[in-house]
Amino acid sequence: MSAFQPLNIKYSEIPPQFTPYDLVIDRSLNEMQDVFYDQDAVKRSLAEQNPSIVKVWMAPIPYDRGHLMSCMTVIYPGTIGDEFYMTKGHFHTDPVNDPEYYLTIRGEGMLLLQTREGDTSVSEMLPGILNYIPPGWAHRTVNTGDEDFVFLGFFPSAAKRDYSFIGLGKENFKKVVVKRLGKPEVIDHP
Ligand SMILES: [Fe+2]
Repeated sequence: MSAFQPLNIKYSEIPPQFTPYDLVIDRSLNEMQDVFYDQDAVKRSLAEQNPSIVKVWMAPIPYDRGHLMSCMTVIYPGTIGDEFYMTKGHFHTDPVNDPEYYLTIRGEGMLLLQTREGDTSVSEMLPGILNYIPPGWAHRTVNTGDEDFVFLGFFPSAAKRDYSFIGLGKENFKKVVVKRLGKPEVIDHP
């Protein structure tokens, strides 16, 4: 068996580019309606348009134990009602072996974290800050600025994502980030 060949990835934040990649996940509002708390605002937004919320590029690296995946995420600026655009968020299914790093390269955001036991944590995400997500913490990122929010992620390639706790009537993230008087505010899920 020949060794996997070394790989160099070029990225930029303006405009967001990441090459080479082997998968792009492009999520617009109609694909993530359930994640926003204000369902009337979701319906109002969709009646007008179906905005792009988030885009993720995954590096062409095997999804095998032993490899380290990298990806780039852009969350576009905007709100649904008063809740900022964000990712769906997920747990890694292995509670002890799959951590993740986020390195912000443009914009400003927040990182919502919580454990299965219900502990929560909120961190700032800014250029110059490297966020470490220990195993066992669900993670969701939120664009709290008025420009693209762009960050790189690094995690064990074999990590699988669990989104099953998110949605209407489900456990969900206990904290949400809303725009109040033009500023981000973290509140309990209404
Ligand atoms: Fe993750």
